[in-house]
Amino acid sequence: MPTPDGMISRKTVLKAAAALGAAPLLVGGGVALARDQIGTGEPLALTPECHDGDAPTIEQTEGPYFKPNSPLRSSMVNDGPGTRLVVSGYVFGRACRPISGVLLDFWQADDGGNYDNSGYTFRGHQFTDANGAYKLDTIVPGLYPGRTRHIHVKLQAPGRSIVTTQLYFPGEPRNNTDTIYDARLLMNVRQNGSTREGSYDFVLNVAQTPGTPSPTPTPTSTSTGGPTTPPGGSWAAGTSYNAGDRVTYSGVSYTCLQAHTAMAGWEPPNVPALWQRS
Ligand SMILES: [Fe+2]
Repeated sequence: MPTPDGMISRKTVLKAAAALGAAPLLVGGGVALARDQIGTGEPLALTPECHDGDAPTIEQTEGPYFKPNSPLRSSMVNDGPGTRLVVSGYVFGRACRPISGVLLDFWQADDGGNYDNSGYTFRGHQFTDANGAYKLDTIVPGLYPGRTRHIHVKLQAPGRSIVTTQLYFPGEPRNNTDTIYDARLLMNVRQNGSTREGSYDFVLNVAQTPGTPSPTPTPTSTSTGGPTTPPGGSWAAGTSYNAGDRVTYSGVSYTCLQAHTAMAGWEPPNVPALWQRS
């Protein structure tokens, strides 16, 4: 499991630098990651506080271009122009334990700064793996009027509310003038050949006990991937659903909003991003 451990927290360093008037968060590649705080014993601040620790919990506007029903895919790359970008990281709970099965729904502008509002170009959702990791293959989003460079994302841990936020790129001139921009949402970005690699660790408001494995949800059945007994309805973990599919769960009818493979913890009442009462 690739989760780092015992690393020296950089938060204290950043705070000290800030006290001296430096601006460490604006330096490319100098952003602290939530994973750096593993082992410090203190609960992590929520996304996007995980880079700071003192700021109030904020989420960011979804803007005008979100649309549901994005395809399940970790690569949004197509044949169009653009600089390849790989964004990766982990989703942690408050004790910096990874959370598996977190839904991440990404959307962004294309190389020319345009959103696809009729289709699903540069839209896609995925789930964190058993290690709480995610990885998105995409391109560097283009600029459009009024905003700095950014990627939109909605996250939802099983049974939890949706967190809507955005990721930013270091060194962007418009970071200084975009009123939505927040340095706590800066990715670490480095160049690797012709590809840019961004990393960011999210922290969600999921209580955890430090030192104990705590991927949530606690499976209610063995996670062999096979269907389980329907819990009082037609919905079943292990089943692949498409947008528009209808199921019943505990006597209530739901319509699938996004294609996905159901899993324990993602029962329809728990995941409004996936199921709508019908
Ligand atoms: Fe946007």
